Amino acid sequence: MRLARIAGTGHFVPEKVVTNNDLAAAMDTTDEWIVERTGIRERRFAEAGVSGTDLAVEASRQALTESGWEASDVQFIIFATLSPDMYFPGNGVLLQRELGLPGVGALDIRNQCTGFLYSLSAADAYIRMGMYDRILVVGAECHSAGIRMDERGRDTAVLFGDGAGAVCLEVTTDADGSRLISHYLHADGRFAEVLCVKSPGAGQKPWLTTEMVDDGSSHPYMNGREVFRHAITRFPEVIMEALDGEGLTPDQVDVVIPHQANQRITDAVTKRLGLPREKVLSNIERYGNTTAASIPIALSEAVKSGTVQRGSLVCLAAFGSGFTWASSLLRY
Ligand code: UT7
Repeated sequence: MRLARIAGTGHFVPEKVVTNNDLAAAMDTTDEWIVERTGIRERRFAEAGVSGTDLAVEASRQALTESGWEASDVQFIIFATLSPDMYFPGNGVLLQRELGLPGVGALDIRNQCTGFLYSLSAADAYIRMGMYDRILVVGAECHSAGIRMDERGRDTAVLFGDGAGAVCLEVTTDADGSRLISHYLHADGRFAEVLCVKSPGAGQKPWLTTEMVDDGSSHPYMNGREVFRHAITRFPEVIMEALDGEGLTPDQVDVVIPHQANQRITDAVTKRLGLPREKVLSNIERYGNTTAASIPIALSEAVKSGTVQRGSLVCLAAFGSGFTWASSLLRY
């Protein structure tokens, strides 16, 4: 039977560190408020002219090296982001161009915080069905270009950071070995406007005006309390769905890697599942919320540090804009 396994991981974050105090100099917020409400101490911002694709190139190269692949081994690319370099075309073709792979197919996934997991599931299906043997899956964000760095942006600006993560997926026939096991994908579009960027958007004509820029609709809008309320229910639910599917209990999982949304959300999920804190990875303190990049960055860091090793049973889970929520279970 054809299955997919992660051959290697990579991640990259920009050098520029932006502390909570740096943000407090630009808007009415404090280090104390941000740390207490979110657990974030600092995040990375790309320099002007550096895009999500640029970050993705670095993460992808590291994943290729760790996998022992040449770029030319990549047969297909899936790129998850909510902060694409252009409105269209998507970042997939831009990454394909930078890696020097003309002709290789490239798919963009726009599922925000769950984008990496939706991408992983699609890549897994392509490999299982025999369409490809080797797929590069990337999550990357350049939030610093789009967040509002003034008073009116303080409720979102303090949360987000830039970065990229990547995995190389390859075919395997070892049904007990390193492999992707399952994916559970959910959405509830009734909450689409609870966390969104409305403009530019062809739901309005014209899709972007100076008024829209002035009133803030080209920046992220979020009802944080509403997102929080749903997140602390959906995260445990979708993690348990993955475990129940295999007849597992939380203590049998080696590592849980939640999307890094807010440390308070991660803590609530950890408590609800009765997991020891050290099993649930967190790097939000250093990077903030990097949306589609947060899970592959955390996974790549965990592989490099030895927290995730070959044979580890890992559960990935995410919740965010859409609303969408998802989990993936894998044996690393
Ligand atoms: O990847 C998924 C994406 N998003 C999330 O997961 C976010 C989920 N939600 C959250 O993380 C939290 O709701 C936030 C961290 C965004 C906000 O925390 P909260 O405890 O829900 O605060 P709040 O929105 O209820 O605001 C409390 C107060 C308000 O002032 P008043 O009305 O009580 O006077 C806000 O105006 O905090 C104020 N506030 C701030 N104060 C200082 C909002 N943003 C800031 C800020 N600094 N940056």
